[in-house]
Amino acid sequence: MENITKDASPKSVNSEQPYRTGYHFQPLKNWMNDPNGPMYYKGVYHFFYQRNPDGATFGHEKMVWGHSVSKDLINWTHLNDAIEPSCIGDSKSCFSGSATILPGEKPLMLYTGIDGKGHQVQNLAMPKNLSDPYLREWEKHPQNPLMTAPSGVEENEFRDPSTAWQGKDGKWRVIIGAQKGDQGKAILYKSEDFVNWIVDPNPFYATDGTGVCECPEFFPVYINSTNGVDTTMENSSVRHVLKISYYRRHLDFYFIGKYASDSDQEKFIPDAKYTETYKDLRFDYGLYYASKSFFDYATNRRILWGWVEEHDSKQDSIDKGWAGLQTIPRKIWLDKSGKQLIQWPIEELEKLRDKQISITGETLLSGSILEVKGVTASQADVEVLFELPDLQSAELLEPSEVDPQILSAEQYASRKGMIGPFGLQVLASKDITEKTTISFRIYRVVDKYICLMISDPSRSSLRQGLTKPIYATVFDIDPNIKTISLRTLIDRSIIESFGDGGRACITSRVYPLLAIEKDAHLYVFNDGNQSVVISQLNAWIMKQAEFATES
Ligand code: FRU
Repeated sequence: MENITKDASPKSVNSEQPYRTGYHFQPLKNWMNDPNGPMYYKGVYHFFYQRNPDGATFGHEKMVWGHSVSKDLINWTHLNDAIEPSCIGDSKSCFSGSATILPGEKPLMLYTGIDGKGHQVQNLAMPKNLSDPYLREWEKHPQNPLMTAPSGVEENEFRDPSTAWQGKDGKWRVIIGAQKGDQGKAILYKSEDFVNWIVDPNPFYATDGTGVCECPEFFPVYINSTNGVDTTMENSSVRHVLKISYYRRHLDFYFIGKYASDSDQEKFIPDAKYTETYKDLRFDYGLYYASKSFFDYATNRRILWGWVEEHDSKQDSIDKGWAGLQTIPRKIWLDKSGKQLIQWPIEELEKLRDKQISITGETLLSGSILEVKGVTASQADVEVLFELPDLQSAELLEPSEVDPQILSAEQYASRKGMIGPFGLQVLASKDITEKTTISFRIYRVVDKYICLMISDPSRSSLRQGLTKPIYATVFDIDPNIKTISLRTLIDRSIIESFGDGGRACITSRVYPLLAIEKDAHLYVFNDGNQSVVISQLNAWIMKQAEFATES
């Protein structure tokens, strides 16, 4: 790599900037939101993202696509912005979009532009020079904009084209997020040449009372394999997933279902409808939005990225000079049950694992807390397997009480549990005045067992003015279960937790005052009445990922 400068030494960056991450994707400065057009192309991973070139807050009327490249999805080189306002279809901003790699290895980007009237329209960009391995420069199609809001769609609520797929008739399809009145929709377009697009009169998917659908995603997943599959695949070996980011709730939801491509009305039929309850499926039950996945054909994985915003103030972002993170890329696949997706940090992350601390076969009696000594716990990867007591002793809940919101509220949380809460206290100060708790608690509900998983940053910082919501989710567990696993990625101001092998994920942002650098501690605890055993705990100090800038 020529003309690459390493970013300021991690140490100097981090002692002044304790909340800048060590191994999560972050540009050098400024505001970042949605992941855009991630793709693998000829040996290089490309990651684009929504960026304000002018500052650390959202850039109305000036958003661009930042661009970084990597060989391993962990160490990155930041390049110049790839897509900036330059044509009538995007004179006021270049909003989110997706990559499609056409046969013959031609990568294309469909993205939303904000035109001179403030309307949202869809544009096409393509690399100027396919022999540049980094695809540094992008040019706009002369016919832009290729799509303007069709009838039944508001002109300023029509955005975020998905990755396109090819139907059995050979035509390309793409879905675009939209709104009419209170109805949120994903609108289907078809094209023979990727330039001339015709709208399908019926929405591909619609929900009443939700407002605009942002960043829709539509992709197949194998029924019997953890491998990913190209977006175009459509046969009996796959099911389909539709992801919608509901702007009003600022949450991502996904639906597993049937792609009805042969019916009169081409659409997606979810197995379970959106209910606006805790039962809706989410990639992450914490702070997480506008996610986007891609099929990595080099390794046959589907890889998911998600934007994690700040929970300190706007002024804090301005003072820090940056805002927004991306989760660690996660491999995703369909669970054996067919009822949900499983997510796991990509294995490349493990290259950053450094010094390891292990604990085996340690019993945590009721009320005990054990420090995991020897890890600099501000930047760590922790995997722990808890051995559970006999589930018969679990607390009993009425079905009407099964709601993570209710169960994580003070009234329930303050009751002494039988099996749990147990788990990790991370980014904790020595005296534990600061800590974020990630816990499990097991309940019996009629004839089944459920696990409540919580990420609780309510005591994460002595600082004032922070948003510290408690995030929780519940999932069914097998009545014969003997162990439950928790993996937590700790990285200075982000905590990403994967419960039960990636069945439930929760991401939190925290801004400790005391628990920074070498003063960040890690504990395992058990507050339940019953003992649990740390069957195996491995904690690794995580090395700094390399972030370089091309000059
Ligand atoms: C989602 C979103 C998209 C839009 C982009 C603008 O966070 O609002 O709908 O394209 O961000 O940055």
